[in-house]
Amino acid sequence: MGYRHLAMTSPNPVPPATGKLGVLTPGMGAVATTFYAGVLAARKGYAQPFGSLTQMGHIRLGKRTDDRNPRINEFVPLAGLEDLEFGGWDAFSDDAYTAAMKAGVLDARHLEGIGEELRAIVPMKAVFSPKWVKNLPGVDHVKDEGTHMDHAEALMEDIDRFRSEKQVDRLVAVWCGSTEAYEDPAPVHMDLDTFEAGLKDNDPRITPSQVYAYALLKMGVPFANGAPNLTVDIPAMEHLAIQQGVPIAGKDFKTGQTLMKTIVAPGLRARMLGINGWFSTNILGNRDGEVLDDPESFRSKEVSKLGVLETILQPDLHPDLYGDLHHVVRINYYPPKGDDKEGWDHIDIFGWLGYKMQIKIDFLCKDSILAAPIVLDLALFMDLAARAGKSGIQEWLSFYFKSPHTAAGLNPEHDLFVQASKLHNNLRHMMGEELITHLGTEYYEEP
Ligand SMILES: NC(=O)c1ccc[n+]([C@@H]2O[C@H](COP(=O)([O-])OP(=O)(O)OC[C@H]3O[C@@H](n4cnc5c(N)ncnc54)[C@H](O)[C@@H]3O)[C@@H](O)[C@H]2O)c1
Repeated sequence: MGYRHLAMTSPNPVPPATGKLGVLTPGMGAVATTFYAGVLAARKGYAQPFGSLTQMGHIRLGKRTDDRNPRINEFVPLAGLEDLEFGGWDAFSDDAYTAAMKAGVLDARHLEGIGEELRAIVPMKAVFSPKWVKNLPGVDHVKDEGTHMDHAEALMEDIDRFRSEKQVDRLVAVWCGSTEAYEDPAPVHMDLDTFEAGLKDNDPRITPSQVYAYALLKMGVPFANGAPNLTVDIPAMEHLAIQQGVPIAGKDFKTGQTLMKTIVAPGLRARMLGINGWFSTNILGNRDGEVLDDPESFRSKEVSKLGVLETILQPDLHPDLYGDLHHVVRINYYPPKGDDKEGWDHIDIFGWLGYKMQIKIDFLCKDSILAAPIVLDLALFMDLAARAGKSGIQEWLSFYFKSPHTAAGLNPEHDLFVQASKLHNNLRHMMGEELITHLGTEYYEEP
């Protein structure tokens, strides 16, 4: 088979996205409310969905000279923004308008025009435990005491009620809840039977996010994890997703500093420039920052952030360039910053003859502004994946995650540009289009 014409026909045509799509977010804080608000504003023509690949992106088909570059949402059958219905759970009873005002990401003048729609998005009661999220005082909106299985069943009733009240045809879920404390997988997570027994016996190693994931997958709802905690990346959930024929993806939205890291590091590696230090520190003052001030929640984040450089730079292949790299990541809770995070990177690099150079990046970003379009794209692509008959881990969505979920033993791909071409090729493959290899020799061959 020639490399440049990798014609792949998708086994089945993807059914169209007819009817309404319900998007459920466990967690209705800064990210989730900024996501709802942006979609509502775009629907009313108040704003454009900048940052969203599904809404703004084009995809090249065929040769560069063919001039076929449709918009992604015209190429693959995605739900339209006007077909989305929002719902969610939160440990606070604030409706989405009040929660958005408290989060302080968007100005009141942006929220006013969509206030009525936001006020109508009222959270369902959360499955919550302060054991897993410590720095969240005043929580007042949680389900009654019971076993994990009681809670999973209560969530399934919520899902059913939402489905019939909003008359949605399909559902997807994106975890936008707080980061839970770090934990390693335990025996209870290792297979579905043991996990279900653990739900009934209230096993202390099962976290609230895992109870949500179980309930959602059981109900056939695709689940993407926007936080760094262990949720669907355990064998029990991977089995359940395959058994139910449902897509799963994760984890930890790739925004801010890690986005920068996965843009810069592949470039340095491509040019064989050495790195002996990468010091990253952040200050942020939103509720997420407050939760991450707890060392156990920070540990989940740290693990998710640290893996990135090692996978991109492959120090085992390049010991002289990256074998002695000091990588440090800090997050500091600093309330005056609010949602306007500041991320500093100090990078010590070296080149020809070992001469040293430095790169400094000061990214004054808005965390939730970067995360909201990711929630939208994940919701639409996970729904697409389900209609395309895909189930289990959706590695092609690595593009959106700091710590991509892959099959056991398989290294994740962190390079943003490789992730982008993987995503594009998966869309081409789904639609039976030729894959693009960028070989380029076809332009120089005799006709
Ligand atoms: N903003 C970003 O750029 C970004 C990037 C990567 C990951 N994340 C992750 O996304 C998540 C959301 O971020 P955010 O800024 O919206 O945080 P946030 O604190 O504003 O919102 C999280 C919400 O989740 C709720 N919550 C906590 N536990 C819950 C539970 N068990 N059930 C239901 N609700 C629960 C909290 O009450 C809160 O309202 C965090 O885990 C964060 O680490 C955010």
